[in-house]
Amino acid sequence: MKYQRIYNFNPGPAALPLDVLEEIKASFLNYAGAGMSITEISHRSKLFDDIINDAVDRTRRLLNLGADYHVLFLQGGASLQFSMVPMNFLTGDMPADYINTGTWSTKAIKEARILNKPIRVIASSEDRGFSLIPGNIQANADAAYVHLTSNNTIKGTQWPVFPDVGRVPLIADMSSDILSRTLDPAPFGLIYAGAQKNIGPAGVCLVIVRKDMLEQVPDDLPTALKYTTYAASNSLYNTPPCFAIYAVQLVLKWLEETVGGLEQMEALNREKADRLYRIIDQSDFYRGTADKGSRSMMNVTFRLPSEELEQAFVQKALENNIGGLKGHRSVGGCRASIYNAVTLEAVDVLIDFMQTFEKQRG
Ligand SMILES: Cc1ncc(COP(=O)(O)O)c(C=O)c1O
Repeated sequence: MKYQRIYNFNPGPAALPLDVLEEIKASFLNYAGAGMSITEISHRSKLFDDIINDAVDRTRRLLNLGADYHVLFLQGGASLQFSMVPMNFLTGDMPADYINTGTWSTKAIKEARILNKPIRVIASSEDRGFSLIPGNIQANADAAYVHLTSNNTIKGTQWPVFPDVGRVPLIADMSSDILSRTLDPAPFGLIYAGAQKNIGPAGVCLVIVRKDMLEQVPDDLPTALKYTTYAASNSLYNTPPCFAIYAVQLVLKWLEETVGGLEQMEALNREKADRLYRIIDQSDFYRGTADKGSRSMMNVTFRLPSEELEQAFVQKALENNIGGLKGHRSVGGCRASIYNAVTLEAVDVLIDFMQTFEKQRG
């Protein structure tokens, strides 16, 4: 081993496929024989055009997106989308419906309210500490869109299936489960995802938007805040985050060519999550925090009998080359983020460690 790498369960930025990191390393000083690093080439060059076009094509293939969708790469993270969505799509009196399943949905709601947009929260699991995904969703037929967070990174819950909202377009923050499972794009008017969990480094946000949605975008928005600006320029209105887009392209290539596509990715992700939840369910020492029917395949959240033990667990794990297990600071506890690039081997190493720790301290 040339260098020591840890088993990385970070919530984001998170593990990237080793193959991808190796490829970046190999071509970093001289990309494609250009005599320059990817961080030094022009975003207006053919070299970069090929990168972004390939990333768009691969996203289309992986998600079965038809010609009626744009695939865009924006800046400002998922957080800017909390504002851009209502700015672009809530332009008249028509309200939007929001579903509140945790911190990130709450932030999306807050931003729409700051803009004084008419929104309704039609379902929330706040009264249950966001430990589940609410059922029986009744969207209003007059809604401009229904907004939800597909995977709740902090609380470890995930929509097992998306709610049927009729003809109203769904808008989803898929930051922490994008491209982790197969998807029928048909109900979605827009999907956004900060790259830094499942598809690349921080600095770029994937936005998939159905073309008809763009008809509503008002003229009087600042240019950089209009989806139409990026749709008209293949995301090259201004200098894009070239390196991050390049890394995303390599991750997409890995997903297609090494993993074999989203069905295979989903099966592997399910196996990883099943193995971890099985250990938690068999034990009286570890306690899962999400309701079973709402459990996330990406972020496995759990508690130990005391905060002291949780601290010791995170520390001892690190001594064993296993990192990133501390729960979000707002909720405490422990969390193993097992995004696409986290291997089955890493999950087995974690399980082994959990069983040893329980024997020693349980
Ligand atoms: C579901 C979800 N949405 C949004 C965000 C915020 O993303 P960004 O930091 O790219 O703005 C996060 C970050 O962890 C997240 O998990």
